[in-house]
Amino acid sequence: MSATAAAAPAVPAALAAVLPARFLGWGMAVPSTVVTNRDLEAVLDTSDAWIAERTGIRQRRAAATGDTTAALAVAASRVALERAALDPAAIDLTVLATMTPDSTCPATAATVQHQLGTAGAAFDLNAACAGFTYALHVGAAGLATPGIDHVLVVGAERVTSMVDPTDRGTAILFGDGAGAVVLGASEQGSSGPGLLGVDLGGDGSGVASLHVPPGERYLRMDGPEVFRRATRAMVESCAAALARSGASPADVDLFVPHQANARIIEATVSRLGLPADRVVVNLDRYGNTSAASVPIALAEAADEGRLRPGAIVLACGVGAGMAWATTLLRWGA
Ligand SMILES: CC(C)(COP(=O)(O)OP(=O)(O)OC[C@H]1O[C@@H](n2cnc3c(N)ncnc32)[C@H](O)[C@@H]1OP(=O)(O)O)[C@@H](O)C(=O)NCCC(=O)NCCS
Repeated sequence: MSATAAAAPAVPAALAAVLPARFLGWGMAVPSTVVTNRDLEAVLDTSDAWIAERTGIRQRRAAATGDTTAALAVAASRVALERAALDPAAIDLTVLATMTPDSTCPATAATVQHQLGTAGAAFDLNAACAGFTYALHVGAAGLATPGIDHVLVVGAERVTSMVDPTDRGTAILFGDGAGAVVLGASEQGSSGPGLLGVDLGGDGSGVASLHVPPGERYLRMDGPEVFRRATRAMVESCAAALARSGASPADVDLFVPHQANARIIEATVSRLGLPADRVVVNLDRYGNTSAASVPIALAEAADEGRLRPGAIVLACGVGAGMAWATTLLRWGA
């Protein structure tokens, strides 16, 4: 290689959609019951100030008896289908990301499919808090299959049912809710909307740091260990998805990270060099809703007009396993 060629500035690769997909609709649903930090102060040895400072969370939503995972998923999906102006029967595949299914068998997606009247295949996907971003990849990849033209991708959780209400280490963090997007096949190819670059990964050496031990009911967590692992995973996975897309942090119009802890998000933003005004943070109002966190954040951002057609969005989920999935995507219908 000549010295001249080596010194030439790199020509930025066009941000090509490797998995074309149109984002036709979005929606979210949360239970009506609000649990504030002050409410938790009354029952746990904790304080509003400690929770807000160490996590950024101020309140979360808690499911009532009727707020099953299926009910939350159906409510969010109805909004997304209406926004897409799509008959539910036009959905060929429903992927429900959840670690809190209503029953271990059958998949909660079966109930969701029946109640919505969607057609085709329906299954649950469990990758804990990375579930929705995994499901987004599965859904977009599904659109490459003849016969699959529309996909419903949902993240729905009742995490409060998995949390020991007397454990201040976990009870302060989690909340319930659901978010959904409707994907459609795209004729626009790599220049249109879709997934530009994906990083999927996991590290099973982290299983014991955040898990429900076999035969037990509640989550056990080594908070500082999960904090270290989650921060590292989010930074490295976002960097990998950007690199795979041929994009730089400056190309990102909106960063939609999993909403676990404001300090994890801040560390990622600072290490990647993303501008703070391009980050969606809503964990102050919902806490960590696991697989529902990214689609709820996406839906709120879209409702607030922060997602214009053509916007480049970096969506990252990280959770128990450890499991992570990051997608750089181009928004648009
Ligand atoms: C859970 C988490 C908020 C704890 O924050 P932390 O800064 O790591 O706090 P530590 O666990 O080191 O505890 C620091 C002190 O606060 C105390 N503490 C822990 N939880 C507390 C609470 N809810 N209220 C008040 N004090 C608390 C500890 O007992 C400890 O006290 P000590 O110094 O007297 O021993 C933090 O580790 C975290 O967010 N981890 C990641 C969790 C997560 O995101 N899980 C889901 C991943 S998808």
